Amino acid sequence: MQETVSFPSGDVHFYSGPVQIAAIYSGRDVILLTDEHVAAALPHLFEGRKTIIIPAGEQHKHLQTIEYICKQLLELEATRASVLIGVGGGVVTDIAGFVAATYMRGIAFGFAPTSVLAMVDAAIGGKNGVNIGLHKNITGTIVQPDSISLDVSLLSTLPATEWSNGFAEVIKYACLFDKPLFDELGKHDITYYRNNTTAMQQIIETCVGWKNKIVIADEHEKAERKLLNFGHTAAHAIENLYDLPHGQAVAIGMMVAMQLSEEVLGMDHSHTEALRSILQQYDLPVAYDIDVPRAMEILKMDKKRASGNIDYILLHDIGHAVIQPLPFTTIENALHQCG
Ligand SMILES: NC(=O)c1ccc[n+]([C@@H]2O[C@H](COP(=O)([O-])OP(=O)(O)OC[C@H]3O[C@@H](n4cnc5c(N)ncnc54)[C@H](O)[C@@H]3O)[C@@H](O)[C@H]2O)c1
Ligand SMILES: [Zn+2]
Repeated sequence: MQETVSFPSGDVHFYSGPVQIAAIYSGRDVILLTDEHVAAALPHLFEGRKTIIIPAGEQHKHLQTIEYICKQLLELEATRASVLIGVGGGVVTDIAGFVAATYMRGIAFGFAPTSVLAMVDAAIGGKNGVNIGLHKNITGTIVQPDSISLDVSLLSTLPATEWSNGFAEVIKYACLFDKPLFDELGKHDITYYRNNTTAMQQIIETCVGWKNKIVIADEHEKAERKLLNFGHTAAHAIENLYDLPHGQAVAIGMMVAMQLSEEVLGMDHSHTEALRSILQQYDLPVAYDIDVPRAMEILKMDKKRASGNIDYILLHDIGHAVIQPLPFTTIENALHQCG
């Protein structure tokens, strides 16, 4: 099955079912990029193919890895006609997109996401980038891939903790836009979705649908795309500081946002409790003992900062989100209460 989605900057072809990515580009010079875990877990994807393997983990999402990959591409004699396919979790797809957008000033690229998080979020929308020090995604590009292959069967080797991390983003979409999804998530858990491919396929399609809709409307994050940062302002301040997986940091960040929603918008406390119990149901953390001054140093460099305020994403209730500029002091107080 194939679907084409048109973003303002170009079309993205979505493929589902068995990964066909190499076949899509038959006759072209295709180079796969993956990490060591994915290369070991899904070796059949790489057999007989030009593959660049990077070390796994967020700590390698930095400029030295970009340089290493560019050198590998030169060694493989990649030209402007080559195609780079990122096969892996969000770290691999973010890096692959960034390399492809900049190598020889831009080559074609596609993604075959292999984690829940990358399938529902990171591989969609064209944001690609790497960290500088503790600052998340502070250098990057917005360039859409040519193709995305969504193959739920690749999740069979994904560790349980990574399923939980991915569900943090699923829960994010539910909080922002989709009360029925929130209610459905409340009835199930990770084990249910791991054992029910049809239900998981449905979750991926729903989340990809939400993300496509937002990115088509506002590809360069001038307005409503900011909503997708729900939970992410606090998350980005603590993720690299404490080496937390992205999904766990987002879970904690969403709880901070709920507290701010109560304080600033008068949101009913029952919504905070409902989110707390869903996050716990999906084995995600709901609090963290944060070193607030250090987190604030990072947060003050957030990309959503403008003249002493940060555009924070708050909820009126589940399914109704707003962009609310907040002063640093208000955010600082909420972080103090999050331990
Ligand atoms: N660009 C975006 O719009 C966007 C959106 C959300 C998140 N992100 C980024 O995504 C990253 C997080 O993504 P992630 O959670 O996928 O992290 P990840 O890429 O580090 O993957 C998590 C772990 O699972 C392993 N893995 C992945 N697929 C596997 C499989 N099928 N079998 C076995 N092991 C597998 C990886 O090797 C890694 O160890 C963060 O850097 C975050 O900033 C980007
Ligand atoms: Zn995220």
